[in-house]
Amino acid sequence: MAPAFKAVTTQGNIQFPADYKGKWVILFSHPADFTPVCTSEFMTFAKMQQEFRNLNTELVGLSVDGLYSHIAWLRTIKEKIEFRGWKNVEVKFPLVEDITMEVARQYGMIQPGESSTKAVRAVFFIDPEGKIRAIIYYPLSLGRNFEELKRVIIGLQTADKYSIATPADWKPGEDVIVPPAGSCGVAEDRMAGKENGGLYCKDWFFCMKPLPKEKVLAS
Ligand code: BEZ
Repeated sequence: MAPAFKAVTTQGNIQFPADYKGKWVILFSHPADFTPVCTSEFMTFAKMQQEFRNLNTELVGLSVDGLYSHIAWLRTIKEKIEFRGWKNVEVKFPLVEDITMEVARQYGMIQPGESSTKAVRAVFFIDPEGKIRAIIYYPLSLGRNFEELKRVIIGLQTADKYSIATPADWKPGEDVIVPPAGSCGVAEDRMAGKENGGLYCKDWFFCMKPLPKEKVLAS
């Protein structure tokens, strides 16, 4: 389960993850305010916030800076920074202040091999029940791939909804993996193509079926 904490953020106080019950959350850390990679990441997340909302997903950022630093940095981003042609970008999701590093330590966001005073770029994918479902860590120097973060959310939601798994590099609209027999039927039936829904098997352990994009992205 996602460790619980209370925090002050740029959007007011939060109780995490309780305030987000019923929603997916991406909780992510960044090393420091007023740094370039983090700035490009925040602008990208801000531009994609509605896309994540459409996936019932909220964003929560965190760094070990204080609230006034966070506010000044987000104001500077809005007033001065242009990236990929984006200007006037307002960050509307909460950015947690964590000067004591209490939350960062609880979540393993401090990786001493990288920095003992800054959080790495950690991304926690938390489900509507408050359970951590996936974690990705990036080092300080590497900006995150936001299409991948979105793909992870869609993949987890699709696996839950349709009891399937997703193959390498899967994208919505591509065929999905039907887990082996035991959970989904008798191997011989599957090999004989007796199940409906377009199921096809290459061997008893490798069965796939189509799952149209419209179904994947239906809310
Ligand atoms: C950055 O966000 O630009 C950054 C932060 C810490 C170390 C290196 C780069």
